[in-house]
Amino acid sequence: MEREDSREMYNDIDFDKIDINAKPPAQEPDRQYYYIAKCRGWVQEFEQKNGRRPCFFTQTFGCQMNAKDSEKLAGILSEIGYRESESEEADLVLYNTCTVRENANTRVYGRIGYLGNLKKRKNREMKIVLCGCMMQEGHVVEKIRKSYPFVDLIFGTHNIYKLAELLYRSLNSQRMVVEVQEDAERIVEELPSELKFGFKAGVNIMYGCNNFCSYCIVPYVRGRERSRKPEDIVSEIETLAAQGVTEVMLLGQNVNSYGKTLAEPVSFAQLLRRAEQIPGLKRIRFMTPHPKDLSDELIEVMSRSDKICRHVHLPVQSGSSRLLAKMNRHYTKEDYIALTERIRAAMPDAAITTDIIVGFPGETEEDFQDTLDVVRRVKFSSAYTFLYSPRTGTPAAAMPDQVPEEIAKERFGRLVAEVQKTSAEFARRAEGSCREVLVEEEASSGLVTGRLSDNLLVHFPGDKALLGRYVQVKLTECRGFYYLGELQPDGPCPKES
Ligand code: 5AD
Ligand code: SF4
Repeated sequence: MEREDSREMYNDIDFDKIDINAKPPAQEPDRQYYYIAKCRGWVQEFEQKNGRRPCFFTQTFGCQMNAKDSEKLAGILSEIGYRESESEEADLVLYNTCTVRENANTRVYGRIGYLGNLKKRKNREMKIVLCGCMMQEGHVVEKIRKSYPFVDLIFGTHNIYKLAELLYRSLNSQRMVVEVQEDAERIVEELPSELKFGFKAGVNIMYGCNNFCSYCIVPYVRGRERSRKPEDIVSEIETLAAQGVTEVMLLGQNVNSYGKTLAEPVSFAQLLRRAEQIPGLKRIRFMTPHPKDLSDELIEVMSRSDKICRHVHLPVQSGSSRLLAKMNRHYTKEDYIALTERIRAAMPDAAITTDIIVGFPGETEEDFQDTLDVVRRVKFSSAYTFLYSPRTGTPAAAMPDQVPEEIAKERFGRLVAEVQKTSAEFARRAEGSCREVLVEEEASSGLVTGRLSDNLLVHFPGDKALLGRYVQVKLTECRGFYYLGELQPDGPCPKES
C-alpha cells in the first residue's frame, strides 16, 4: 500500500533525457516517466506526419474524486504532448465514468455510441478511452467488448497513474486494451496533474471506502480505504500554493477515518491543523465527512480556524432510524440531529448541506416523513436528492419491498420542495450583508460568480480580471439558493450586518 519512494520530484524530470530504447524500469513512478517519454516520441512522429499536435478531449461523470482523477489524466496527456480540445472531434477522447446510480451508466453508453459514429465518419484513427468506476464492473466491460468493439482502451480506478503505459500499448495495438485491477496495489505519487482552475484545487487525502453502506457501489469499485501520508499531502498543498492556488478541497470518501491505518496514525483534525499553517492558503474545504464519526476535535479545529470554510457537507441519506440501520449507516435520526446542533453551537454561521436518497427498499410514508422532519429541523442550505437506484452486487439491491417508481418520484417532488424552502431560509439570513468571496467564473452578460465561505454563490457585475481574487461583495438580493450582489471596491460595507 505504501508509496514507492520516488528518487526525483516530478518537476525535476527531463523527459528528453530518458532513454526510451532501454528496458522499462520496474519501479513506479519511473516506469510511467519512461512511458511518457515513449509516447512523446509517438507524438513527434504524429506531428511530422500531420503538421499538428494530436488533441484530446475528456469528459468527467460523477463526483469530485473523478474530477480530480481527470485532472491527473489530463496532466499526463499534456505532458505526452497532446493539446486539450473543447470538442469530442479529437484524436483521443477519454470518458472518466461514474456508476453510483444507473442513470450515470445509461448516459455513458449513449455517449459511447455517439463516439463510435464520430470515429467511423470523421477520424478512424481516433482513440476512445474509457476509465473510472463503471469500468471496475465486469458486466460493463463485457458489454463494451460485445457492443462497442471500436473502444480502444479500458482501465479502472486503480491504474489511473498508468495512463501513459496503457496508451503506449494501445498505440501499438489494433485490439482493445483492457486493464482493470481488483484493488490498488499502491499509491503512486509524483505524476503530472492539470488544474481546471489556477486558484483552487482538489487534493486526495485518501482513496477507497470501507463503510459498505448497503446501497452503495463505491467500496466495490474504489477498493479499500488507503490514506496518503500527511507529509505527502502537505508537500502537494505547498507546491500548489507556490503555484498560486489559494483554496484546496481535501478529498476522501470518508475523511473522518483519514490516517487511522497509517504506520503513525494521524487524525483528520490534526491534518487540517497542519494544512492551515501552509503559507499562501486562504481557504480549506473538505469532502466528505461521515456523520457516524465526525469528532468534536474536528468541530473545534473548524470553529477556531479562519481558513477552514464554514460549510459541512454531511450526507444524512434518510431521516428514518429504521432505514438508516438497513442502510448500514451506524447513526440514528437523533444522533444526526444532535451532531448538527453541536456544529451550529460552535459555528452559528455554518452551512450544512446533505445527500438524501428517496425510495430505499422498504421506505414507508412514515420513514419518508422522518426525512422531511430532518430537513425542516436541520435547515440544510442545500441538498443533493437522489432516487434510490439498485446497484448489482450491493445488499440493498437484493432487499425485498423495492419501492415502486411512481411512489418514489412523488416523494422526491415533495422532498425537493421542502429543501427549497429551507435553503431559501438559510440564504435569506445573509441578504444585505457584505461578504468575502472568491471569484471563480465568468457568468453570462458581464457578470462573474463568486463563492462565499459557506459555499453559496453570488453573481455580480465584473469581468475576468477578477477571476481568482478575493473581494468584498454586498449581497443585495437573495434569489433562493444564490444571490445577486455588488462589488465593494473599497472593502467591506460600512456596517457589517
Ligand atoms: N442510489 C441512489 N443514490 C445513491 N448514492 C449512492 N448510492 C446510491 C444509490 N444506489 C448517493 C448517496 C451518496 C451520493 C454520492 O450518492 O446519497 O451520498
Ligand atoms: Fe458509499 Fe457509504 Fe462509502 Fe459514502 S460512506 S462512499 S455512501 S459506502
